[in-house]
Amino acid sequence: MWKPPQRIKYIPLVDTWPSREEAARARLFSPVELGPLWLEQRTWVPAMVPWRASDDGEVTEDVLDWYGRFARGRPGAIVVEATGIRDVPSGPLLRIGDDRFLPGLRRLVERVREESAGHTRLLIQIIDFLGIRRRPEREKFLRRFLRITDRHRQLLGAPAMDDEAVREQLCALDDDRLGQVLDAREWEALTMGHRERVTDTLLPHIAELPRVLPGLFAAAAGRARDAGFDGVELHYAHAYTMASFLSATNTREDGYGGPLERRLRLPLEVYAAVRRQVGEDFAVGCRFLADECIPGGNALAEATQIGVALAAAGMDFLSLSRGGKFDDAKQPKVGEAAYPYTGVSGYECMPGYISDEFGPYGRNIEPTAAVRAAVRAAGYDTPVVVAGGIHTFTQAETLLQQDRADIVAFARQALADPDWFEKVRSGCGAQVRLCQYTNYCEGLDQKHKQVTCNLWDRLQLDEPGVRKSRDGRRRLTAPAWQRD
Ligand SMILES: Cc1cc2nc3c(=O)[nH]c(=O)nc-3n(C[C@H](O)[C@H](O)[C@H](O)COP(=O)(O)O)c2cc1C
Ligand code: SF4
Repeated sequence: MWKPPQRIKYIPLVDTWPSREEAARARLFSPVELGPLWLEQRTWVPAMVPWRASDDGEVTEDVLDWYGRFARGRPGAIVVEATGIRDVPSGPLLRIGDDRFLPGLRRLVERVREESAGHTRLLIQIIDFLGIRRRPEREKFLRRFLRITDRHRQLLGAPAMDDEAVREQLCALDDDRLGQVLDAREWEALTMGHRERVTDTLLPHIAELPRVLPGLFAAAAGRARDAGFDGVELHYAHAYTMASFLSATNTREDGYGGPLERRLRLPLEVYAAVRRQVGEDFAVGCRFLADECIPGGNALAEATQIGVALAAAGMDFLSLSRGGKFDDAKQPKVGEAAYPYTGVSGYECMPGYISDEFGPYGRNIEPTAAVRAAVRAAGYDTPVVVAGGIHTFTQAETLLQQDRADIVAFARQALADPDWFEKVRSGCGAQVRLCQYTNYCEGLDQKHKQVTCNLWDRLQLDEPGVRKSRDGRRRLTAPAWQRD
């Protein structure tokens, strides 16, 4: 992952933890309503893909254990990882694109209810994403994948040359010259791996996205409701289809790109279709970006307008993330796919302990507060969720007291210690295992390996019944909290 050049090293913040009585009076542990949904406390475990689903996208025992473990800490809400709305193979990522996924998803809902004794509400993040290929070998790309065009022939100065001869010539060029003959997308396909964009409207399946996505999202949300979830989070953030429609980089000319009101059109149509499907008594919100953190992308000015439009449409909550784009991703190795959390925008999404003067803790708080203020100024009281580097009670409580957000999300801190919520609420905050923000977990995610935390994944490996990673070296969930 990219690191700020200042390379200032941070350690977790030192906190004075509240007593049980102080915690009981804290805003963090007070209830909040998300439209029809009531949360017992303002704590939230945001979506995190742990690479635990089966290759067919089904809920596995490891998925049940993963969410069951978070539920034991009794946060106000857990959002299940980004779950695909289409019925297409997508590796070990959870899917909700067909009714056959319902039994597994129902078991997941039941498990979280049981483990949290009914205290934690469960939402599911639903996602659409476009195709991305692995970075190809140079030779293979030039000989097999590249479509030879007259532009190549012209730039090689041989208008009558046949395809095979063009390929031969291209293979013989050095990279500088090859970069002049290939166009920008071809060069990207060679050096990064081909990646579809929402602006590729010459491709029929991309052109028709506005026609198909509302129905796909609505059907997925309907299944989430049938499976017993308490709500859905529409994934409008990071590197995926809906965020790409919202992005200032979306120049589609079919009424769904260009000025912001047109970029908002599909996200609003998707929301309307979802709402029609699930009715008013089921929570529907979304996750979107307070800043895309890429050149030419949406910044805070656009995010505030997006927030107001989504609140006006009737969303039950708005969850703010930042960055996490493909646009500035690092070049992958040959045979690997680009990963959207490897560039500057990736750093902004999951800031690590090696940072700049601002540091990794709370980089998204002020931008989220600005979006919330705009939403409030427009007359909407939609609850706003903030995430990013929050690990202490004081951080969380202060930002709530200062009306910067309404709910606090803890992703890596909950991974480091899923009992954070119960420990802090019961006056045992001093026993919290604090996240070090090393991003070991994110490195596993990048390699599509089962995500764990290095603060606990080698502990008590001989515990009876403990489930381990495929190589048998790591436990897959945190050990139980032994109260001191
Ligand atoms: C392993 C891992 C997987 C993640 N998967 C998702 C995801 O599926 N959807 C999403 O919106 N964010 C995802 N995120 C981002 C987190 O939800 C969160 O926004 C980010 O980690 C910053 O919060 P934190 O500093 O509390 O960790 C993931 C983060 C990690 C570490
Ligand atoms: S591996 Fe653990 S300590 Fe490191 S960033 Fe992830 S959750 Fe935090």
